[in-house]
Amino acid sequence: MNNFFKLNNGINIPSIGFGTWQTPDGETAINAIKAAIESGYRHIDAAAVYKNEVGVGEGIKGCGIPREELFVTSKLWNTERGYESTLKAFEQTLNDLQLDYLDLYLIHWPANAQQFSNWKDLNSETWRAMEKLQSEGKIRSIGTSNFLPHHLEALLEKATITPAVNQIEYHPGFTQDECVAFCKKNNIVVQGWSPLGRGEVLDNATLITIANKYNKSVAQICIRWALQNEILPLPKSITPHRIKENFEVFDFEISSDDMTTINQLKNIGESGLNPDTVTF
Ligand SMILES: NC(=O)c1ccc[n+]([C@@H]2O[C@H](COP(=O)([O-])OP(=O)(O)OC[C@H]3O[C@@H](n4cnc5c(N)ncnc54)[C@H](OP(=O)(O)O)[C@@H]3O)[C@@H](O)[C@H]2O)c1
Repeated sequence: MNNFFKLNNGINIPSIGFGTWQTPDGETAINAIKAAIESGYRHIDAAAVYKNEVGVGEGIKGCGIPREELFVTSKLWNTERGYESTLKAFEQTLNDLQLDYLDLYLIHWPANAQQFSNWKDLNSETWRAMEKLQSEGKIRSIGTSNFLPHHLEALLEKATITPAVNQIEYHPGFTQDECVAFCKKNNIVVQGWSPLGRGEVLDNATLITIANKYNKSVAQICIRWALQNEILPLPKSITPHRIKENFEVFDFEISSDDMTTINQLKNIGESGLNPDTVTF
């Protein structure tokens, strides 16, 4: 099992990212980042809308690891779509994180047809700003989040740079096979958000049986399963022993029979957030 995935621009991305959604800003965020770095994570998944980039940035600054050994992602929130507002929002994020570049910047959600008659143009204008920021060296890679194949197809019509990453909901019981296949075909790395289904898949009887067999926790099974499916998981925790546990997944392998069993689980832990119908 490789500790990195390779992006379509040749850059290596650490194969597990540390999630920060719902992590309170301030001491909690600082301590979570420090615990993650101590446990071995080198990849942090932030976003402006999580309202904790100041604390996340403090944690990064104080962690004792050189900046170039870390991989830091943030995301452009929905209210900031468009060319000029993307440039501005990016500067705010960089400021909050106290960084002078990002490793990866994502469009958090696509503008969708239900909300915007000009959704294609809006996404393309946002993307044009992201391409400019990458060309200026302020971001090493750019990507999307929650884009379904039709959103990506429309974006690719005008894009100069193909997204390096698409970050989507992915956990046992919710595998978005069509979107994953589209991304893999187009050499776009898929990152899995809510890899533990926000904790909701952890009491599933099938997963518990499999976890017991490997002497691992269900959380570790979910993370390892994503990796073996070549999906980059982004587990979140603010609890030090869980942060550590979620990174201890490189010393075992799930058999192909058990992979098939997990792949076939249906309808557990789904958020219900459909990129075509969300109203935020
Ligand atoms: N792009 C997007 O639209 C999007 C959407 C959602 C999430 N994300 C990203 O993906 C990350 C992960 O998703 P998520 O935060 O929704 O959920 P998640 O990682 O699936 O689950 C997090 C929940 O599980 C608990 N947990 C973590 N490790 C555990 C363990 N070993 N045993 C038992 N419980 C455990 C956490 O509790 P404690 O923290 O209390 O330990 C928390 O309640 C986010 O933080 C964010 O970075 C992106």
